[in-house]
Amino acid sequence: MNKIEIFENGRATGYNQFVKTWIPGYHYFLNLLPKLLSETEYKDLLIAGCGTGNEIELFIQAPGHWKITGVDPSPEMISQAREKLQTCDNVTLIGGVVADLDSEKKYGAATLLLVLHFLDDNGDKLSLLKDIAERLVPGARFVMLDITGDKHQVSQNLKVLKLLLPDGLDEEQINSRLNRIENDLFPVSEERVSELCAAAGFEPPLRFFQSSIYMGWLTKKK
Ligand SMILES: C[S@@+](CC[C@H](N)C(=O)[O-])C[C@H]1O[C@@H](n2cnc3c(N)ncnc32)[C@H](O)[C@@H]1O
Repeated sequence: MNKIEIFENGRATGYNQFVKTWIPGYHYFLNLLPKLLSETEYKDLLIAGCGTGNEIELFIQAPGHWKITGVDPSPEMISQAREKLQTCDNVTLIGGVVADLDSEKKYGAATLLLVLHFLDDNGDKLSLLKDIAERLVPGARFVMLDITGDKHQVSQNLKVLKLLLPDGLDEEQINSRLNRIENDLFPVSEERVSELCAAAGFEPPLRFFQSSIYMGWLTKKK
């Protein structure tokens, strides 16, 4: 089974404020998703690592009557998603990892936002990408948002991120968070993202978005 980065306690309850603070342009990026995936014919969408349901919320009312499945292994994150989305009859929420989903059931598109950089590149990243690819129809679009770059690129872009943070944050907290990103997470280079996509059965990915250390990627299942 994939390694899991569990979001609990303060990390789950403070999550939405956290992403707003730490990912400049996060809501801009989220709002692009329905348009990016609008040419999908088979509107059955898989949101891998759906967390509190941020991506799902955007598709509930999007044109095309999407059917949305969100999966996340963190009980606290998915319970926040359940609270927000339980009345939506086009949403299914599943506590678990992608590998737990029936591999016979196929989806027409998928997203994986802010998950891959928590997984080591020791087979864990690839196995999650393969689990997703296995559940997509050929040609299905797949969007990722992830901390990306080689060591030098990430370190330079962390300096940019620091400049873009909102005013009034505690300096010690800023430095500890930047330190954690630099030393405890598992970003890979742009070349490695392409290699992982190829190995998992995706077309060469296109980097269509960047905000400091965060890159948005679009690819298709082969
Ligand atoms: C930073 S949150 C992102 C949530 C959501 N995608 C968003 O953009 O708001 C990362 C999520 O990935 C989930 N996660 C951790 N390991 C995972 C895995 N192996 N497969 C799928 N999701 C995972 C965590 O439980 C957490 O909810």
